[in-house]
Amino acid sequence: MKVVIINGSPRKNGNTSAAVGLVSEELAKAGIDSEVLNIGGMEIRGCMACNYCKTSGTSMCVFTKDLVNAAAQSIAAADGFVLACPTYYAGIPGTMKSFLDRLFYSGGAGFRHKAAMAVVVARRSGGEDVFHQLHNYFHLAQVVVAPSQYWVVGHGLDKGELLQDAEGVQTIRGNAAGLAWVMKLIKSGAENGVNPPEREDRIYTNFVR
Ligand SMILES: Cc1cc2nc3c(=O)[nH]c(=O)nc-3n(C[C@H](O)[C@H](O)[C@H](O)COP(=O)(O)O)c2cc1C
Repeated sequence: MKVVIINGSPRKNGNTSAAVGLVSEELAKAGIDSEVLNIGGMEIRGCMACNYCKTSGTSMCVFTKDLVNAAAQSIAAADGFVLACPTYYAGIPGTMKSFLDRLFYSGGAGFRHKAAMAVVVARRSGGEDVFHQLHNYFHLAQVVVAPSQYWVVGHGLDKGELLQDAEGVQTIRGNAAGLAWVMKLIKSGAENGVNPPEREDRIYTNFVR
């Protein structure tokens, strides 16, 4: 089984990388491989609402020079995925936000019923806001969110400081163990005829017509 981890920090070997390392280690204990995509330092433009991904029938983003389309295919082929990033002004860092808007708008249908978890790093405040913002993508993609003992926010400023946050480390490790468990439940369900609900044709109302 395999998990794709999106690391939205531009800092090499920073606290988000440390958190991602904890997740990968815990998944490896459960026999699950991780593929890490470090997108935080890349040039990634935002969605321009051209709807090419919908109208072309490709479910691909019109911008092809970055990792968005490749990441969508990797996640669709994996059993689970992880969104990890630091907190910038109590929000998702801009590069990660641009990446996620395009990733989920174009390829999100392929993530339906995958298992997922979010990991956030903050120096002090705003991490919970980012955690909730990341879950907006999960919920609209009908992802199965792995259980956690607490909001998954680890604290640190200098590189690697997160590893001194004992409760943060435990929460990250525990959530990764929960992710492995959910992935195995989904696989076992599929093998035993417990399938997700059929997708109904979507009703869209925008409240003015
Ligand atoms: C532009 C910017 C904005 C930040 N805003 C916040 C913030 O709102 N709250 C906070 O606790 N930390 C904030 N931080 C600190 C980072 O979240 C923190 O240092 C984190 O460990 C960085 O993760 P990294 O090592 O993976 O890059 C900010 C850092 C930067 C560069």
